[in-house]
Amino acid sequence: MERIFGKPLIPQREIEKRVRELGTKITADYDGKELLMICLLKGAYIFFADLVRNIQLPVMVDFMMVSSYGAGTTSSGSVKIIQDLSSPIKGKDILIVEDIVDSGLTLSYLYKTLKAKRPRSLKVCVLLDKVERRKHSIPIDYIGFTIPNKFIIGYGLDYQDKYRNLPYIAVLDISEVE
Ligand code: IMP
Ligand code: MG
Repeated sequence: MERIFGKPLIPQREIEKRVRELGTKITADYDGKELLMICLLKGAYIFFADLVRNIQLPVMVDFMMVSSYGAGTTSSGSVKIIQDLSSPIKGKDILIVEDIVDSGLTLSYLYKTLKAKRPRSLKVCVLLDKVERRKHSIPIDYIGFTIPNKFIIGYGLDYQDKYRNLPYIAVLDISEVE
């Protein structure tokens, strides 16, 4: 893509640096443990792919797809599991990896659902935290960046399923897409 989409918020270089730092921290925290990382599709896929390559441990991976948003920019208020995990998590050290936490609905629902399956430990890693929008409290163990209350696209995050492939994080400029 030749032109710049959205208003750039976090450049590629800064994302790379932060993901390396998170990888180093997770590597140290999970040394000697049985780490299974869960990628929440679709939004977290690019962050997840970069993050796992910055972790120097034999991690296992799995994928889940949940939906709370419809096609718009606000939550529909309920969470649905569209694609579930491929194997049991009981007794394992689980790290949920999500693109962004907004109201907290998605993660608080998932946290409860996965906790009930009795993993050995359960932690959460998010790339972006829209902290002022939080309605459902949820413990977050690793945060990439805290961001203002703006609608974000790029680096896996979408608007109507587009713009995930932008290599940087940007604020959606609605005049560009409508
Ligand atoms: P929550 O359940 O309100 O915390 O919303 C989290 C989910 O909404 C994330 O998994 C994202 O898919 C989506 N979401 C929230 N804010 C944004 C945004 O600014 N851009 C793109 N997706 C978002
Ligand atoms: Mg998502």
